[in-house]
Amino acid sequence: MSILEIQNLSFRYSNNQSWIVRNFSFAADAGDIVAVIGESGSGKTTFLYLLCGVIPKVIKGHFSGKIKVMNENIENLSLPQIAPKLSLMMQETELQLSFPSVEQELAFAPENLKLAPSEIENRVDDALTLLQIKSLRYEETATLSFGQKKLVAFASVLTLSPQIFLLDEPTSGLSTHYIQQIANVIQTSSQAGKTIFIANPTTNLLEISNKTIDLNKL
Ligand SMILES: Nc1ncnc2c1ncn2[C@@H]1O[C@H](COP(=O)(O)OP(=O)(O)O)[C@@H](O)[C@H]1O
Ligand SMILES: [Mg+2]
Repeated sequence: MSILEIQNLSFRYSNNQSWIVRNFSFAADAGDIVAVIGESGSGKTTFLYLLCGVIPKVIKGHFSGKIKVMNENIENLSLPQIAPKLSLMMQETELQLSFPSVEQELAFAPENLKLAPSEIENRVDDALTLLQIKSLRYEETATLSFGQKKLVAFASVLTLSPQIFLLDEPTSGLSTHYIQQIANVIQTSSQAGKTIFIANPTTNLLEISNKTIDLNKL
């Protein structure tokens, strides 16, 4: 059994737009790092929205096919049920970050999972430690640099501890130092059996990926 199975997936926003994917099938296993590539406007973000159910649950269009996570069709799950299995780091970091402080931002998702306070504390601590940003814990999110915000957005995915990470341009616009920090955590997560999709991976991330989905060709 694969961790994620895409079966005959087709999607376009409307009749007068071209297909983003058409009759596309794919399987990903534990530990896979999947590079989702294609030029701007080819549908990378759309593809990640399909994987986590935002399309068609929130954003509508012409959708058909099946996406199964650990053998469960995500069509039968609500978005709050999907998030702890497949969680998305959005391309627009500003849209993702919604709390005044870094600590509040990171505690929010595990609080929603109704985890015990000690477990929430552990998850926040682990995420900050892994990404080497413990010093940002009590900072106001608004005062952070672009790169620091990206790391915090990634940390908030880690606190959910999902099986599958969907990272939309996680390193675009970042300095090599931050890119390397993110690449290290992706590699560690892969070794721990997580499955990671990366839209528009920069060089370091492309090097560690073992599968590719090229949306120019779909
Ligand atoms: N909500 C939407 N409604 C209609 N068209 C959209 C919507 N979102 C994106 N598109 C279009 O779908 C195509 C793919 O967009 P997107 O997935 O953002 O590509 P990428 O992430 O590869 O740059 C583009 O032509 C874009 O204009
Ligand atoms: Mg995009």
